[in-house]
Amino acid sequence: MTTDQTAYLRSTQLAYDTAAGAYAEIIPPLFDRDPYGVAMFGAFADLVRTRGGAGPVADLGCGPGHATAHLRDLGLTAFGVDLSPKMIAEARRAYPDLRFEEGSMTGLDLPDDALSGIVSWYSTVHTPPEVLPTIFAEFHRVLAPGGHLLVGYKIGDLIRHLDHAYGHDLSLDVYWRSPEEVERHLEAAGFVVQARLVREPDDFERATQGRQGTLLAQKPDAATA
Ligand SMILES: C[S@@+](CC[C@H](N)C(=O)[O-])C[C@H]1O[C@@H](n2cnc3c(N)ncnc32)[C@H](O)[C@@H]1O
Repeated sequence: MTTDQTAYLRSTQLAYDTAAGAYAEIIPPLFDRDPYGVAMFGAFADLVRTRGGAGPVADLGCGPGHATAHLRDLGLTAFGVDLSPKMIAEARRAYPDLRFEEGSMTGLDLPDDALSGIVSWYSTVHTPPEVLPTIFAEFHRVLAPGGHLLVGYKIGDLIRHLDHAYGHDLSLDVYWRSPEEVERHLEAAGFVVQARLVREPDDFERATQGRQGTLLAQKPDAATA
């Protein structure tokens, strides 16, 4: 593991271990207020059901598990993985019927081609650009051919360092990226981008956030390659 990876993983885990309880309370389930996100999750679920094969869907960087539960509500077999043990504890407490595991997107404890779908919902927003290729290569490795990937991210061109968030002192970098940058990384890892959504910040986000992006991509199979 490179120094960049180690430093990012350590600071991100520490920050979310510190803020997990507050994050779970403060950040409402997206699905209560974002019809565009709900639509992209719906399209993703339809594609997984019709094209994805038998494997489960992983919510990678699941935080408190809201997206994992939404995937289950859409009829998919879903589980969550997160770097932060405290976040995993929050997710297990909120959704005791679902499976949540500690783990890192930089090196997943999953065999090749194991999943029919992956959701990465704002879980790469703390990932330095030099580590993104490792994570997207790992997504490609564990996704079955024909499987789909849904990525939510913050649009912009800046790095914001947070010393305080969710009522706690912590240290966390947040990366705002262009759709082109995220797509370039996905394509370099072997994905084919199928749909892109750009939406304006809603009332809850407007004071501190910019546009929000969602990308839906596929790992090609014999029929699509
Ligand atoms: C902004 S939160 C998003 C959480 C959740 N997906 C949601 O939408 O509420 C980012 C989450 O990604 C997790 N995370 C960041 N880097 C990770 C990595 N390399 N592997 C696993 N989880 C990671 C953090 O611990 C945190 O829970």
